[in-house]
Amino acid sequence: MLDHEQVLIRRGPRSGLPVILALHSTALGPAAGGVRLWHYPGWRDGLTDALRLSAAMTLKFAVTDLARGGGKTVVAMPQGTRLDPARRRDVLRDVAEVIDSIGGRYAAGPDVGTSPADMAVIREFTPHVFCTPEDQGGSGDSSPHTARGTLAALRAVSRRLYGEAGLKGLRMGLIGLGHVGEHLARLLAAEGVELTVTDIDAARTRTAEEIGAAWTGPEEIISADVDILIPAALGGVLTTRVVRDLRCRAVVGPANNQLHAAEVADLLYQRGIVWIPDYVAGAGGVINAVTTELHHFTSDDARARVDTIEDIVTELLRTADDLGVTPAQAGHEMAQRRIRAA
Ligand code: PHE
Repeated sequence: MLDHEQVLIRRGPRSGLPVILALHSTALGPAAGGVRLWHYPGWRDGLTDALRLSAAMTLKFAVTDLARGGGKTVVAMPQGTRLDPARRRDVLRDVAEVIDSIGGRYAAGPDVGTSPADMAVIREFTPHVFCTPEDQGGSGDSSPHTARGTLAALRAVSRRLYGEAGLKGLRMGLIGLGHVGEHLARLLAAEGVELTVTDIDAARTRTAEEIGAAWTGPEEIISADVDILIPAALGGVLTTRVVRDLRCRAVVGPANNQLHAAEVADLLYQRGIVWIPDYVAGAGGVINAVTTELHHFTSDDARARVDTIEDIVTELLRTADDLGVTPAQAGHEMAQRRIRAA
């Protein structure tokens, strides 16, 4: 069955690249979601990603009680594509045209491979876009807010596992020092967390050193002896095999679509590992963008709203206990309640 309200696939007339806009749901309000500009083996793989990522955006808005729906745009570049500035502009213009064609039922934001500067280019051709740079009236980079929200989720989980002692001295493994990952690493280091980090880009070892984090390989971090593992890179990390190798007590991170398959949430549960759905732990960015740009919150009020992720995670864990289900099922349940009520 097709869950999505609408899916547009268009070969960008300027770039020649496939632009895929998946509109999952507008039940709670017009949809929002990032523009992912990334490499895929083929455009169908980009479509699969867009379908899953947009559905997760619906859940992200529903659990955080923001009246928005879920959508996502994927530009599926063939492996090895390099975009010079002119071609990049062509791509963004192609994206803007597709967005504009559905007349405000979806608004874009940054995601893997795009930035506030890219949102400014999209803004030249359609008003339906979040996170243009602050000096151009937008809310700018969403990644520090996403990182802050993940920190709030980590506080809730560490309370659940270790009581009121706080984050200091806990050992955490962070996968991915990208936009969100680096911000999060700095926040955690400031809390006194003992950090081990990895990234597919070995040049990031310098960042790790600067932060005072230990470095390990992307394979090794999975079985690292840490309290909490934090996925902050691309999706699909949590496979059956990976879950078998984990030694942590919880997996909590901002990367979208962490589960390789839905059943992996059950395996984590059976192993007694607490997994917080990514759409909750990674909601800080959209919370900040939507509350400041649409509801005109001050930055302090937006920050306070991002911090409520701690309460949302606590409620989620309680719901899971009450219903005797996994946190993944509890998250779906909380989201569905909101959507049904609308
Ligand atoms: N990449 C963001 C996410 O997955 C998308 C986004 C950010 C959308 C900010 C709108 C505003 O949540």
